[in-house]
Amino acid sequence: MVQTDRIYLSPPDVGALEEQYMLDAVRSGWVAPTGPYLTAFESAVAQRVGVDHAVALSSGTAALHLGLLTLGVGPGDVVVTSTLTFVATANAITYTGAEPVFVDVDPVSGNLDAELLDEALTALARDGRRVAAVVPVDLLGRAADYTTLEPIALRHGVPVLADAAEAMGASHAGRAAGSFGAAAVLSFNGNKIMTTSGGGMLLSDDGELARRVRHLSTQARLPVLHYEHDEVGYNYRLSNLLAAVGLAQLERLDTMIARRRAIRQRYRDQFAAVGGVQIFQGVDDDDDNSWLTALLVDPAEAGWSSGDLVDHLQQCNIESRPLWKPMHLQPVFDGTRSFRTGTAEVIFSRGVTLPSGSALDDGQLYRVQMAIADFLVGRA
Ligand SMILES: Cc1ncc(COP(=O)(O)O)c(C=O)c1O
Repeated sequence: MVQTDRIYLSPPDVGALEEQYMLDAVRSGWVAPTGPYLTAFESAVAQRVGVDHAVALSSGTAALHLGLLTLGVGPGDVVVTSTLTFVATANAITYTGAEPVFVDVDPVSGNLDAELLDEALTALARDGRRVAAVVPVDLLGRAADYTTLEPIALRHGVPVLADAAEAMGASHAGRAAGSFGAAAVLSFNGNKIMTTSGGGMLLSDDGELARRVRHLSTQARLPVLHYEHDEVGYNYRLSNLLAAVGLAQLERLDTMIARRRAIRQRYRDQFAAVGGVQIFQGVDDDDDNSWLTALLVDPAEAGWSSGDLVDHLQQCNIESRPLWKPMHLQPVFDGTRSFRTGTAEVIFSRGVTLPSGSALDDGQLYRVQMAIADFLVGRA
């Protein structure tokens, strides 16, 4: 266990069940990227999300990479994604040789702006670019509006790869996040709602797509003894040991989501009467997994900025951060085409994420809330 009095944004929440399954995996001898926990973890996630196939991989980034490759994305293509995402989404597009194109977001959800997506796809087609995929992102565990986005992409003849990295346990229109698009991607990184320390998964109802992802993730090795390979593959498979941790986490997922929701409610109550501050992504419903709780601070009305709060919490040894810096502002993607309304930039300048992890105990939450209360004295 990390022994420090620093309070983190979203540390892993692992305990006795993870230890038990991990120990069992070690003792079984299946200490490799193959074994019974891997198969059981894939089946359990597929069942939970309601998809036919799941392929466990070494990271969400690897899952994005292979998902894009199997959808036929390659050099010369463009892939449209949200500008408000973690860099992994855009990096994976670049790995394939395609260029990302960034589209702005809806002010409430922070997810792809459907109208602007339509405009972008029309403009790119007019310019003779082949758009090989659209990658909506389920920001902070709020699923994108696939009911609107999927028909737009399909009307333009473009497949959807859903970046549900942050959204395990969330849903949209009665369907689980991770079940949308031609395929979807989950991340089990250490900061996610459930973790395998590092890991990811590709989900799809398309058996051929899943088979090809599995093949590419194991060096495209054919099932013969003498190591034969029919294309350039990758070493992207998840270890059986980590799948054991994942299976335990999945069994605890609903409890962990309930804790994150309770934490969000505490922040919601604390800021209810504070002018110029709102909880990002609007009202909660059962669709949201409440992975990270973020505030939007209007400095003109509040009299303080999101940065002021981050600095104060930092002095109290409490981690908080601005929301993702939009991809079109990143030096690495300088000059990349984007379709913008300015919304992502506003969210970036006003947004601040607060400690939200399910491992946060009541004492730690009290410390965070007292630090916020101290900050607000004389300001609110
Ligand atoms: C939106 C988004 N996409 C992709 C990833 C990449 O996942 P991983 O860190 O497992 O590679 C992450 C998280 O890190 C993410 O937040």
